[in-house]
Amino acid sequence: RFLVEGQVDPFSLVADELCLIGNRLRDMVVAHEVPRLSLAAEYFFEMGVEGKRFRPTILLLMASALNVSLPGSIPDAATNAFSGLRTRQQRLAEITEMIHVASLLHDDVLDDANTRRGVPSLNSCMGNKLSVLAGDFLLSRAVVTLASLQNNEVVTLLSTVLEHLVTGEIMQMSGTSEQRCSMDQYMKKTFYKTASLIANSCKAIAFLADQETEVAMLAYDYGRNLGLAFQLIDDILDFTGTSASLGKGSLSDIRHGIITAPILFAIEEFPQLQEVINRGFDNPANVDLALDYLGRSCGIQRATELATEHANLAASAIDALPQSEDDNVRISRRALVELTRIVITRTK
Ligand code: FPP
Ligand code: FPP
Ligand code: MG
Ligand code: MG
Repeated sequence: RFLVEGQVDPFSLVADELCLIGNRLRDMVVAHEVPRLSLAAEYFFEMGVEGKRFRPTILLLMASALNVSLPGSIPDAATNAFSGLRTRQQRLAEITEMIHVASLLHDDVLDDANTRRGVPSLNSCMGNKLSVLAGDFLLSRAVVTLASLQNNEVVTLLSTVLEHLVTGEIMQMSGTSEQRCSMDQYMKKTFYKTASLIANSCKAIAFLADQETEVAMLAYDYGRNLGLAFQLIDDILDFTGTSASLGKGSLSDIRHGIITAPILFAIEEFPQLQEVINRGFDNPANVDLALDYLGRSCGIQRATELATEHANLAASAIDALPQSEDDNVRISRRALVELTRIVITRTK
């Protein structure tokens, strides 16, 4: 009982299951016929470079948070069905992580990245061609697993995510200067690139549990708003880094001409900033100039407020779920709410 009232650590709640999923992922990406592909595909599932496993954590917690008995289900059948349902939800978490890693492999090729997760990126050690194919291979494995769930609605949700990932990436690399400076366009791109995967996967977790549309939409709203908050904070940290003072981040977005929320808010206060952006950031002096405007504006503060708004919306979606007296359900919901706080307060 006291656990329900006290603090929860979202990650330790699902640690054992995450370990299981990690093992399954490693097994799943083995390509028996092509050792080189195998080596490449396994790269990011190795111990130590497996990433934060943020998405599987959220999805497993969501599965538990929605684990309310459905009207009309007989208790005995429900317990029997439970382990089958949980396994299917674990499969979905694996699919989501595979799609995520596939997108990172492709992203590092597009971004010419040298490192990923603190180690040399796959493209930097095995070349672009193999990286692209390794990403395709992971994606194929994800799709085969998706088909095995035999749930058409879930297939549609995750296929839409793939379309969104590509759309978001293209929106980021193209577009007129007017589009690149539109807040509306930025939020759209952020949804496609970051939030769609977790939003639609949360919804799929609800569909697998045969939840009604209202509950599935709350799961979706949680994922969408958490994803948006996460990316907004990511974009702020690109300027501030861990120190919270301007210019301490990697400044990688602005140097690549990627305009994010803090700058978009700054333009509203200093329209002259628009001309600096139009001149481009190949010249480092323009980066300094933009940072100067940003520093005199409320850009960082307003972007933080927007992130907090979305984090709060995510928490409200959890609070709006049908009441449950089940301790496990309640602890999982608390953990999901706790994640909205962690996302906002993180410094790296
Ligand atoms: C790497 O993901 C970074 C991205 C894909 C871009 C931004 C997305 C996020 C920061 C996370 C999305 C938000 C939620 C709430 C799921 P990562 O930092 O998760 O990478 P990792 O797999 O290496 O930990
Ligand atoms: C990380 O962003 C990248 C993404 C969130 C998505 C990338 C999507 C594609 C490359 C489209 C292809 C999709 C599939 C499914 C194969 P970032 O570069 O801003 O972040 P980083 O700091 O983690 O590199
Ligand atoms: Mg990148
Ligand atoms: Mg990128």
